[in-house]
Amino acid sequence: MIEVTELTKIFGHRLAIDHLNFKIKAGEIVGFLGPNGAGKSTTMKILTGVMPASSGTAKIAGYDVFDEAREVKKNIGYLPEMPPIYFDMLVDEYLEFVAKLHYVTKSNLKSSIDRSLEKTGLTEVRHRVIGNLSKGYRQRVGLAQALVHDPKVLILDEPTVGLDPVQIIEIRELIKSLAGAHTVVLSTHILPEVTATCERIILINKGTLVSEEMIEDRIMFQMLVKSINENGLKALKSIPGVKDVHSVVGVEEGTISIELNSMQSELRGRLIEVAMQEKMGVLEFSSVKLNLEEIFLKLSAADHAMMEKRA
Ligand SMILES: Nc1ncnc2c1ncn2[C@@H]1O[C@H](COP(=O)(O)OP(=O)(O)O)[C@@H](O)[C@H]1O
Ligand SMILES: [Mg+2]
Repeated sequence: MIEVTELTKIFGHRLAIDHLNFKIKAGEIVGFLGPNGAGKSTTMKILTGVMPASSGTAKIAGYDVFDEAREVKKNIGYLPEMPPIYFDMLVDEYLEFVAKLHYVTKSNLKSSIDRSLEKTGLTEVRHRVIGNLSKGYRQRVGLAQALVHDPKVLILDEPTVGLDPVQIIEIRELIKSLAGAHTVVLSTHILPEVTATCERIILINKGTLVSEEMIEDRIMFQMLVKSINENGLKALKSIPGVKDVHSVVGVEEGTISIELNSMQSELRGRLIEVAMQEKMGVLEFSSVKLNLEEIFLKLSAADHAMMEKRA
C-alpha cells in the first residue's frame, strides 16, 4: 500500500532523509518512531504530496506521490503536526470544506461527513464551533478531516502530542479502531506510543532506517533447567537460528535465556531436545517478549540520551 524507495530529501546542506526504503502493507498499523529531527515529518510530507523529494520515489496505493498527485490525494488522509483547523468554523462545516478539497462528489458529501463524524465520535458536537471544543475533541476533528474522503491510507504526524493522559488514551483507541479498514502510519518520538498502538515499528534515526520489525517478533525463549553445564550451553548456542545463550545458575535450578536471530517457534522442540540430551533436565519452557525499550535504547542509544537531556 505504501512503497518508499531510496527516498532522499536535502534542505540546503542538510540531509533530512537519506535513501529511505520501506514498505507497508494494506491494513497495517505502523509506528514511525525516531528521535526529534529524525526525518519523520519530512517523510510524511513527501508521502502526502506536501513537498517534493530530492530523489527517490514513493507510491501510495500504486500511485506515484509526485506524478499522480491527484490520485494520491484521494487515497490518503493526513493529520499534520499542526492540524490545519479553522477555529471559528463549525465541525461539520469544516468537514464539508475539507471533503470538497479532496474531490468528494456532491452526492457523497453528506454520507462522507456523517461517516467521519461517527468514526471519530463527533456526531453530538457536529454543530459546535471548533474553537470551543477541548483539545482532545479538536484532535478528533483533526482525525475526522483526515478521514472524511474515506482514504485507504492515513498518515498521522505525532497525533497525541499536547494532549492530557486521558485524551491520549482516547485518541490511541480511536486510531486503533481505524486500522484494518485503513492503513495507518503514525509518527512518534515517544516509545510507549508505538507499543500501545502499533503492530510494527519503523525506527528511523538521522534520516536513515535503523530497524523495521514486528513488535511481537522480538521474543526470546527461557528454559528453567535442573542443572547447567558448559557443554550443554555450547550445544544450544550451536543450533542454527540461535543468536546467543545466557545462563543464570540458581540454588536448586538454573535459567537459560536463548536469543534468536528471528522468531522461529519450530526451534522450541530442538532446544528442548538438545537440553535433554545434554542432561540439563528441562523443567519449564517459555517465551519472553523482549522489552521494546531495550531495543530502542540499543538501537539509538546516543540519540536517546540526547532526547532525555532535552526533555
Ligand atoms: N523546511 C525545512 N528547512 C530546513 N530544514 C528542515 C526543514 N524541515 C525539516 N528540516 C530538518 O530536517 C531534519 C528532519 O526534520 P523532521 O522531518 O521535522 O524530523 P522529525 O519529524 O523526525 O522530528 C531536521 O534536521 C530538521 O531540522
Ligand atoms: Mg516531526
